[in-house]
Amino acid sequence: MNEFYDSVIAAYKGKPGALLSILEEVQRRTEHTYLNAKALMYIAEHMSIPLSQVYSVATFYSFFNLKPQGEHTITVCRGTACHTRGSKPLLEDVMRMLHIEQQEGDEDENSFTTDDMRFTVRTVACFGQCALAPVIAVDDVIYSRMTSDKLADLIKSLTARKVKS
Ligand code: FES
Repeated sequence: MNEFYDSVIAAYKGKPGALLSILEEVQRRTEHTYLNAKALMYIAEHMSIPLSQVYSVATFYSFFNLKPQGEHTITVCRGTACHTRGSKPLLEDVMRMLHIEQQEGDEDENSFTTDDMRFTVRTVACFGQCALAPVIAVDDVIYSRMTSDKLADLIKSLTARKVKS
């Protein structure tokens, strides 16, 4: 029995879109904003839904995280318009500034989190704002026509902020 999961399940069970709402709320209220294996198994069992179905919902939607997330999320668009306007060097800048190194076998990985859990760097296929390329999002704020200098300032101001307690 888990009071937290039980209360979220009870709030949505039987309502349309219950599984999505439950996963969203559990993720939002879980430290480091992610869905861990225990949560997925508990929800599957108590909603009487096959674990494979819960897992496919959690992996289908890009807003679900299966790994712990940093306090801030920096999302770099890697779509064609942004690529042609320099998103690859911008991504490399972010990784370098945050001291994140891609390991061998990470080629298909699109999410990296710093060891201190302050930042997660992700990529997306397109923000739908191609005319403003290159586009980067920091948490929920979209920044258009990003440059290396603007990016460096942004990261400096984020790193200077106090860690959330
Ligand atoms: S390709 Fe980057 S916003 Fe569309």
